Amino acid sequence: MKNIAVIILAAGRSTRMKSKVPKALHPLCGRPMLGYVLDLVKAVGPAKVIAVLGYKHKEVKALLPAGVKIVLQKKFLGTADAVKCAYPALKNFRGTVLALYADNPLLKEETIKKLLKAHQENNSDATLLTASVDKPDGYGRILRDKYCAISGIVEDKDADDFEKEIKEINTGIACFKSNKLFAALRQVRPNNRKKEYYLTDVIGIIYKNGGLIDSVKIDDLNEALGINSRVDLARANKIKQRQINEELMKSGVTIVDPDSTFIGFGAKIGRDTTIYPFTVIEKNVKIGKRCSVGPFAHLREGTSFDNDVLAGNFLEIVRSKLGAKTLIKHFSYIGDSRIGKSVNIGAGTVTANFDGKNKFITVIKDNALIGSDTILVAPVKIGKNAITGAGSVVVKNASVPDNALVVGVPAKQVKLNPSTRLRSLRVYTERRRSIKKR
Ligand code: UD1
Ligand code: CA
Repeated sequence: MKNIAVIILAAGRSTRMKSKVPKALHPLCGRPMLGYVLDLVKAVGPAKVIAVLGYKHKEVKALLPAGVKIVLQKKFLGTADAVKCAYPALKNFRGTVLALYADNPLLKEETIKKLLKAHQENNSDATLLTASVDKPDGYGRILRDKYCAISGIVEDKDADDFEKEIKEINTGIACFKSNKLFAALRQVRPNNRKKEYYLTDVIGIIYKNGGLIDSVKIDDLNEALGINSRVDLARANKIKQRQINEELMKSGVTIVDPDSTFIGFGAKIGRDTTIYPFTVIEKNVKIGKRCSVGPFAHLREGTSFDNDVLAGNFLEIVRSKLGAKTLIKHFSYIGDSRIGKSVNIGAGTVTANFDGKNKFITVIKDNALIGSDTILVAPVKIGKNAITGAGSVVVKNASVPDNALVVGVPAKQVKLNPSTRLRSLRVYTERRRSIKKR
């Protein structure tokens, strides 16, 4: 495929979202929806990419990679006006123009490629991506003449009762011959309920001028879901979530209940790791091989687990690294921590990482044993093989030496008697055994 220019329409206000955040920046599985559209653009590999921005354009611009030409739409006069804004940037361009809406994040690469291929092979003037659906409400309807050729699009708001019955809808994704598109755009008038310049009117104009209009149908409307409201956003999120979970399962991760497992975009999870229900894993979290996570765990951004980590019930872990074979099995909060290998973190352990103004780091070295209900007031450091007694509060700036035992509030070092040493040794061997069994 050659000579393609892509125009991304992302100027609109978030009116139906009832939001101050531009629609293109609302996230799906932790990633702004525009990000997914940009992936599509990359896959197409066009000669030119133009993003039409408007509402809070500086915020949207921050997401765009270098090489994307930005044009501003000052007044949101409709999708045709938005495409017109891209004209000066494409004045000398001859070829195929692909129009993408920033609120269509679920489209698949193959579909876009199929659309472009059909358009170029048939030498059409315009090719629409359409779908046949049971509930076409909200979408533009495809009009066809008596020969079944596409003759126009009528918007939902402007459709009469007869047209509202039409089940073939406009997904909004379309490609055009550049000269035919820009010639037709000049003739679009805002003669409709919304008093807007509709890009969809270009189709009727090209038809009247004797142009060839083709279509490619998609089977699954989910792919073309346009996100206009928060209800649509939740639907799209669910679809995206299913895709992410299925990809992970295919790569060797067990997800016990995909419906109650929420994994963000870009999370990496190793083979033979099991994720138990009601678990939230935020975007870009990294989990090694053979780990076990949840049920009811919340792993937030900046978290990474080495292999064989066991993170059990009712946990929140954020911006923390856990070394191989470390266990944290029951209700804990771990923030801004660097935790070594084979550490055992007892139930109810909390890192007090925030003093009201700043966040501080907790360091726990290999083989340490953190007793139940320990509070670690960061910044704090626990040495190798060190033990904290149940209920101890290790105060700010403390540095517990290797092999030491601290107990109490505030935690003080006590001589480690041989029986404690023995007990910790026993715990340690049991732990190793349980890991092996897994
Ligand atoms: C549009 C189509 C409709 C189609 C539906 C599919 C038109 C007139 N209608 O309707 O046929 O079924 O998508 O989802 O095109 N935008 C601008 N500037 C503007 C107006 C909109 O950049 O002045 C951008 C928006 O930010 C958005 C995209 O264009 O990303 C689509 O606009 P939207 O208002 O969501 O169109 P729909 O009503 O969904
Ligand atoms: Ca839309």
